[in-house]
Amino acid sequence: MDAVAEQKYDLGVVRWFTVMATVYLLVGATVGVYIASELAWPVLNFDLPYITFGRLRPLHTNAVIFAFGGCVLMATAFYSVQRTCGVRLWSNKLAWFTFIGWNLIIVSAVITLPLGLTSGKEYAELEWPIDIAIAVVWLSYTINFIMTIANRKSSHIYVSNWFFLGMMIMITYLHVVNSLAIPVGMFKSYSIFSGVQDAMIQWWWGHNAVGFYLTAGFLGIMYYFVPKQAGRPVYSYRLSVIHFWALMFGYVWLGAHHLQYTALPDWTGSLGAAISLAMIIPSWGGAVNGMMTLSGAWDKLRTDYVLRFLIMSLAFYAMSTFEGPVMSIKTVNALSHYTDWTVGHVHSGALGWVAMVGIGAIYHLMTKVFHVQMWSTSLINAHFWTATIGTVIYIVAMWVSGIMQGLMWRAYDEYGTLAYTFAESVESMHPYYAMRAIGGMVFLSGVALMLINVIMTVIQANAQGSVQQARTATAAATA
Ligand code: HEM
Ligand code: HEM
Repeated sequence: MDAVAEQKYDLGVVRWFTVMATVYLLVGATVGVYIASELAWPVLNFDLPYITFGRLRPLHTNAVIFAFGGCVLMATAFYSVQRTCGVRLWSNKLAWFTFIGWNLIIVSAVITLPLGLTSGKEYAELEWPIDIAIAVVWLSYTINFIMTIANRKSSHIYVSNWFFLGMMIMITYLHVVNSLAIPVGMFKSYSIFSGVQDAMIQWWWGHNAVGFYLTAGFLGIMYYFVPKQAGRPVYSYRLSVIHFWALMFGYVWLGAHHLQYTALPDWTGSLGAAISLAMIIPSWGGAVNGMMTLSGAWDKLRTDYVLRFLIMSLAFYAMSTFEGPVMSIKTVNALSHYTDWTVGHVHSGALGWVAMVGIGAIYHLMTKVFHVQMWSTSLINAHFWTATIGTVIYIVAMWVSGIMQGLMWRAYDEYGTLAYTFAESVESMHPYYAMRAIGGMVFLSGVALMLINVIMTVIQANAQGSVQQARTATAAATA
């Protein structure tokens, strides 16, 4: 089977994307721990502009979302589209172009962000020449994916491909519109939108980066890898199709929930909140669909540590897609906005859902594309526990800190004077910032174990010549 897979599919580029995803998760989480520590112990800024919180924060978000997230999405999409369509990639060369291009973009982010070169748009900080490169490389990924589907041997298109495709098309459109800018120099540009339109476009992109990239794309991963790892078909195929169309039509309307009580017309925020609340239904339907795939085989969770990652990620997906809609309600948002509650919500989605489902998929892929078992299963188990415990410590710290912050800012005495100064609220945050940094370190220690495991597995595969053997065996069989 391994030999057949090696002959029938283009796995080289998948191997590289998989290993690089692990490296970038380690880098992104390390920067996350560092900036979390800077907030707890500001002395760590060392008065060096390049490593201040303001400059490293976008480096963290870009590293985890686009470097780690991007490499996972590209590895899994390029792998699963070949398996589900029964054909190799439309163009292996173009896939390598995507790999090299994406990594060069990541390198340019690592150089420009600490230098302070930024467009100032959240999750779209990179300056215009890099934005153009992103559009070109993303299109190369999308076209290759679409053409591979067009060449498929099966008549029907498996649901994971629909989710990947939805993400690719929407992200192309969102990235291009949000990045429209007038350059005034090689590394400086100004958005063509201004004022409230700029804010609206920014959050139309911002929420859809969450909805299509961090959710729909990772659901594509879930719909392929959960059934594969569990060795069972997806619980309800019909539910997965409803999940897909409801997400596609719903997510694009939500951006305004980031801009409650601003200069935006009030009805846009109400519309954002109403659709956000409705999104609980398809999101929970999808989470239940993934979990119920294990129905009748729950005992597998006792021994299959990779499956544990995948199922735990669905629990966090359900949790964050309940919390998000609640936070979009105007009265709740009046308390949560600007506070650490938002940061807690982000990381219950980012660490609990995105990172965990991505990690589960990486472990699955490693054995499939290197044709060996993982070097150590007990390290996977240790990773599972550090990831879960680290995530819980992180989000609990932010919930307490965020709600306390919100309540302190709005407390006033009988004369209508604010009960606390802003500095007092900052001081009260300190223990929770320290707790978040510790949670981050626990999470990071698991990622370090993962990288060791991945490197040792690659070394083992090289020593056994498993990739080579798979190639030679097929060559001999077909001669
Ligand atoms: C060791 C793990 C991590 C730690 C310690 C960490 C820490 C942090 C910190 C301190 C911030 C800045 C919060 C602020 O501005 O007040 C942040 C922001 C952010 N992080 Fe992480 N992070 C980690 C992993 C991740 C991962 C894996 C992802 C995504 C997959 C992620 C996505 C984000 C996003 C989207 C933001 C911006 C949040 C916002 O604007 O509200 N982080 N992180
Ligand atoms: C139905 C699902 C969801 C809804 C309705 C939702 C809603 C919200 C709301 C209301 C906010 C706070 C806006 C503010 O006060 O500024 C928010 C922030 C955020 N959410 Fe969600 N959320 C959902 C799921 C998720 C998931 C699964 C993730 C995954 C990572 C996620 C990532 C984020 C990020 C990154 C932000 C922070 C944006 C920023 O301020 O920089 N959300 N979300």
